Amino acid sequence: MNRITDILGIKYPIIQAPMSWVTSAELVAAVSNAGGMGTLGPNAGHHTVANGPVESAERLRTEIKKTRELTDKPFGVNYFPPAVDSGESPYGEAQLKVLIEEKVKILVVVGVANEKDIKRLKGLGFIIIFRELQPTVSGAKAAEKAGADIIVATGFDEGGSTPHIPIGTMTIVPMIVDAVSIPVMATGGISDKRGVNAAFALGAEGVYLGTRFIASVESPAHENAKQDIVKHGTEDLLLLPTGRGGYWRATPHSVALEAQNAIDKQENSNFSKIGNLKTAMLDGQLEEGINTVSSGIQFIKEIKTCAEIVNELMADFISAN
Ligand SMILES: Cc1cc2nc3c(=O)[nH]c(=O)nc-3n(C[C@H](O)[C@H](O)[C@H](O)COP(=O)(O)O)c2cc1C
Repeated sequence: MNRITDILGIKYPIIQAPMSWVTSAELVAAVSNAGGMGTLGPNAGHHTVANGPVESAERLRTEIKKTRELTDKPFGVNYFPPAVDSGESPYGEAQLKVLIEEKVKILVVVGVANEKDIKRLKGLGFIIIFRELQPTVSGAKAAEKAGADIIVATGFDEGGSTPHIPIGTMTIVPMIVDAVSIPVMATGGISDKRGVNAAFALGAEGVYLGTRFIASVESPAHENAKQDIVKHGTEDLLLLPTGRGGYWRATPHSVALEAQNAIDKQENSNFSKIGNLKTAMLDGQLEEGINTVSSGIQFIKEIKTCAEIVNELMADFISAN
């Protein structure tokens, strides 16, 4: 037991991170039933783009209900608050209404460290796990001051779109640990027991994993995308600009290779296709989109169940507690 298991009411301080398109009630419940905490991400459980904010929020309601049918353990939901004071986001507001109505307890809030947003969510009674997209010491302090319960420190090693500034997990975790008194979770490139133990050695009190759980039996990711993770190692990965400052780290298939080629030749390229992770990861058309994963894929050799992953990665925490 530690502060994270106490705050979240879970057995082991390991969270399955929210990921667009590749989460579902089945994945989330499997991680929560294994003693960690699963998190529903954007488009969880769905294969088509929602028709506007209301449909998107109602789909989330369905997935929350489905998750509750599969587990009585705590789980989280991803929430992106409106950016700073730029006004209300219709998606955010419709989603928040559902989160309140469905009495969701734990939010994984991802974005900028805006005190007003965090205070508002705290005032609504949520437990808040806050992950700053571009992690900073000042942002972590601001989130703590505003009432966040747990901070996630993201290293550049992560899958999905990376932070803009390339600070690795080994550095960002102790930077944030030194800055705040609330517990910190480490994320970015952690995929085996050694990574988990290293995160604890750096002062983190828990780990937050995306890529490792994509390659799980219960993940809704397409089998092609799962096998692609098993098949490739870290040296195969390409790092491509998102166009918004960060990067996508992707396995070497047509869309990523063409983009890399254009960069090498200093040609203008249409990078919009790079962001298409649904086509590759959920629909399995690896040459039509990107399979974006962490630098930790080197150590993913087999598709295992979430229970096997949790028990294997948390083995030393379990025996010490
Ligand atoms: C395919 C993919 C999609 C992601 N989509 C989201 C998202 O929608 N919301 C979010 O907060 N983070 C998203 N992330 C980031 C993860 O929540 C998490 O920070 C990251 O996967 C952790 O790093 P790891 O992959 O090295 O374990 C995504 C990551 C991946 C790999």
